[in-house]
Amino acid sequence: MADTLTITDNRTGQKYELPIQEGTIRTTDLKQIKAGPGDTGLMTYDPAFLNTAACRSAITFIDGDKGILEYRGYPIEQLAEHCNYLEVAYLILFGELPTEAQLNTWDDAITQHTLLHENVKKLMEGFQYDAHPMGIFISTVGALSTLYRDAKQVFDQEARNRQCVRLIAKVASIAGYSYRHSIGRNYVYPDNDLSFTGNFLNMLFKMTELKYRPNPVLERALDILFILHADHEQNCSTTAMRVIGSSHVDPYSAIAGAAAALWGPLHGGANEAVLRMLEGIGSKNNVPAFIARVKAGDGRLMGFGHRIYKSYDPRATIIKRIADEVFEVTGRNPLLDIALELERIALQDEYFVTRKLYPNVDFYSGLIYQAMGFPKDFFPVLFAIPRTAGWFAHWEELLRDSEQKIARPRQIYLGPKRREFLPRDKRT
Ligand code: SDX
Repeated sequence: MADTLTITDNRTGQKYELPIQEGTIRTTDLKQIKAGPGDTGLMTYDPAFLNTAACRSAITFIDGDKGILEYRGYPIEQLAEHCNYLEVAYLILFGELPTEAQLNTWDDAITQHTLLHENVKKLMEGFQYDAHPMGIFISTVGALSTLYRDAKQVFDQEARNRQCVRLIAKVASIAGYSYRHSIGRNYVYPDNDLSFTGNFLNMLFKMTELKYRPNPVLERALDILFILHADHEQNCSTTAMRVIGSSHVDPYSAIAGAAAALWGPLHGGANEAVLRMLEGIGSKNNVPAFIARVKAGDGRLMGFGHRIYKSYDPRATIIKRIADEVFEVTGRNPLLDIALELERIALQDEYFVTRKLYPNVDFYSGLIYQAMGFPKDFFPVLFAIPRTAGWFAHWEELLRDSEQKIARPRQIYLGPKRREFLPRDKRT
C-alpha cells in the first residue's frame, strides 16, 4: 500500500493523489483542488489548531492517551528524579544532558547573569504596590529588549546564546523583584553560592539574616516543579512564541508575548484559578454542589482537562507526591482535602469520565506554592520562569527550520460583499 491519500472532488469528478508524510498531508497540496476557474483552491479550516501540525519539532514528545511526556526522549519521571532544573533546561535547549563539566560551565554562566540592570529596578518601581506580578513580569521581560540591542541579531548564534543565558537567569530575578515590590520589601541581590532555585528562594524570602539558607526539601520540591513546567511542545504560549518569533523580532519581545498567553486562566493562569476555586468551595461538604454546577455548565473544574492528555497528566502524578514531602515541612494545606475530594468524585463521574477530564499540571501545583508561602497571583510567574527554557528552545528551533516563514494563516471571509461607499448624509 502506498503512503498516499486519494481524494475525489465530487464537484468535478477529478481525482487527486496526495503524499502522506510523517502522518500528515501538506495543506498546500490541497490548493490544486479547485471547483472551477477563478477558484483559489481548497484550504483546511481548523480553529484553535485542534488537528494541525504547524511545525516539526525534536524537543518534547507527548502521548496524551498513555500519559507520556518526554524531553528530548527522556521520560519526565526520570528527569524529575535525577536532575536539577538547570540540567533539564540545558537538555531542552541543546538536545543532550550535559556532562559534569558542561553543567558546571552552564551553571556558572547562568549565575553570572542573575543581576538586573539598575534601571530595570527603577522601571519596576513604577508599578502600583499591588500590581499583579505576572503583569510586572511580562512588562519587564519585554523591556529587556531595550537594554540588549544585540538581541535583534536573531541569526547570530553568539548573540542568541547571550540572550538565552540572560533570559534563563534574569526571569528568576525579575520574578524575585516583582514579589518583593508587591510586599513593599527591599530587593534581595542574588547569592552566587546558592543553586538556581535556592538563589530564587533567597531573592524572595531573605529577611535580615546575613545569609539566606533555603530549606533543602522546599528547594528540591520547587526545582522539580521547575523541571515539570519547563516545556510541553506546542501549547498555547509556545505557539505564541513561535508565531511572534516568526516575524524575527528579538527574543525578549517574543517571550513577553508568550508569557502573556500563559497568563490566561485556561493555560498557565489555571494554577491561580484552582486555588481561588478551592477557597470558593470552602469545605469538602460543598464539593458535590460545586460539581453539580460545573456539570450544569456553570463554570469549569479548573486544573482538570487537557487538549492532549486524555488520561492522567504525568506531571500531576509527580506533583501529588511532592505535595506530601512539602507538607511534611510546611504543614498540610487544608485545601488539599477539598482537592482530593474533587478528584475522587470527578474521576468516577460520567460527565468527566466521558470527556476524559483528569487532573492536569495545575491542579495540585498551587497547593504546594501556597504552602511554600507564595501568594496566588504569583503562581503564573512560577510557571513562566521554567517555561522560558522551552519557549527559547522552540524559538531557536523555529529560526533554524528552513521550512518556516512568517506565520500568516488564511481565513474564511464572512463579511459583506463588495459595496460602494455611502456618503455620510446618505447613511441611515
Ligand atoms: C495548561 O497545552 C498544554 O500543554 C498546556 C499545559 C502546558 O504545560 O503548557 O499543559 C498547561 O495550560 C494545562 C491546562 C490548564 N487549564 C485548566 O486547568 C483550565 C480548565 N481546563 C479547561 O478549560 C480545558 O480542559 C482546557 C482548556 C485545558 C482544554 O480545553 P479543550 O481541549 O479546548 O477542551 P474543550 O474546552 O473543548 O472541552 C471539551 C469538553 C467541553 O464540554 P462539551 O462542550 O463537550 O459538553 O469538556 C468540557 C467542556 O465544557 N471541559 C470541562 C473542563 N475542561 C473541558 N468541563 C469542566 N471542567 C473542565 N476543566
